[in-house]
Amino acid sequence: MKTVIVTGAGGYVGGQTSIYFHEQGWNVIGIDNNHPPMHLAQSTYFSKFYVAPFDSEDALELIKNSNPDAIIHTAGTSLVGPSKRDPRPYYQNNFVATKTLVEYLLDNNIKTRLIFSSSAATYGEPVMPPCEEEDPPLPLSPYGESKLMTEMMLQSYANAYDLDVVIFRYFNVCGADSQSRHGQAPGATHIIARVLEALRDDNNITINGNDYPTADGTCIRDYVHVEDIARAHLIATQCITGTYNLGTGTGYSNRAIIDTALSVTGQADKEINWGPSRPGDPAVLTGSSDHFAAHTGWKPTNDLTSIIRTAWQWYNR
Ligand SMILES: NC(=O)c1ccc[n+]([C@@H]2O[C@H](COP(=O)([O-])OP(=O)(O)OC[C@H]3O[C@@H](n4cnc5c(N)ncnc54)[C@H](O)[C@@H]3O)[C@@H](O)[C@H]2O)c1
Repeated sequence: MKTVIVTGAGGYVGGQTSIYFHEQGWNVIGIDNNHPPMHLAQSTYFSKFYVAPFDSEDALELIKNSNPDAIIHTAGTSLVGPSKRDPRPYYQNNFVATKTLVEYLLDNNIKTRLIFSSSAATYGEPVMPPCEEEDPPLPLSPYGESKLMTEMMLQSYANAYDLDVVIFRYFNVCGADSQSRHGQAPGATHIIARVLEALRDDNNITINGNDYPTADGTCIRDYVHVEDIARAHLIATQCITGTYNLGTGTGYSNRAIIDTALSVTGQADKEINWGPSRPGDPAVLTGSSDHFAAHTGWKPTNDLTSIIRTAWQWYNR
């Protein structure tokens, strides 16, 4: 049986990835700073769930003793806005702690594949959407910078020391487990989470900006279902190394998200408030996954309706 370590296993992406690897017959060991949410704590997905920072001595020793075939490194600190107000935890947790992890792997001669959760935030304002991996990265926040710095370090270590690494730049991860076993934590900042929680709780919905240079005036972002991301991680344990976008190449507008959410939830008469555009928000941010698709055949399989339907089921389970 193959063993995978998932850092951030109690989180949104880490939890879904753990479920998928367990289903595919892997021995899954989770590591997370925090105790897992009840639905994961009471599950059989993990042979062990260790509550500690992934760069702590005990967690690193657990990694060494588990002799993992792969490490899916999703643990991170991830909010763009807060990273501008208080950047220290971003550089510390995303860059410095990951440096400690990979140097421990190298120093202890631990041969494993590291799959790193990077972000579309490394691109900043896209040159010409959809973003391609070769585009110049120009992150606009300490969050994006900390992910880019980590990518650069991993790539240098791969070149110099033979570190085995796959880097994924996720675009907007969304949706929930199709059997409602896992999904976003309450209060997530993501637009789909905010809209669906507001619809469930009968709260007002405010969307920022309807005067962008797009067909319906609202921002376009690239949404990838969390199950498609989990599947990409498994493929990445077997494919060639490198840096890959995980996006759809097209994206959906905020207006399309609202319309689909109102239709899926049967609340067509809900009023939407339109707030001002947020300075620095690009009109379109989408990413091409053509490279990863060409190498592996991976394709996102969920459209916007399926993304919103699974998330709505999760919020109403
Ligand atoms: N969700 C998205 O749309 C998205 C998009 C791009 C990139 N990413 C990246 O993907 C990764 C996973 O995102 P997510 O949405 O699942 O986030 P999340 O916040 O739901 O999960 C992250 C988990 O990591 C844990 N964690 C943080 N620091 C840790 C540490 N030092 N040691 C152990 N555990 C730690 C947290 O407790 C949390 O459970 C993050 O690195 C994020 O930056 C996410």
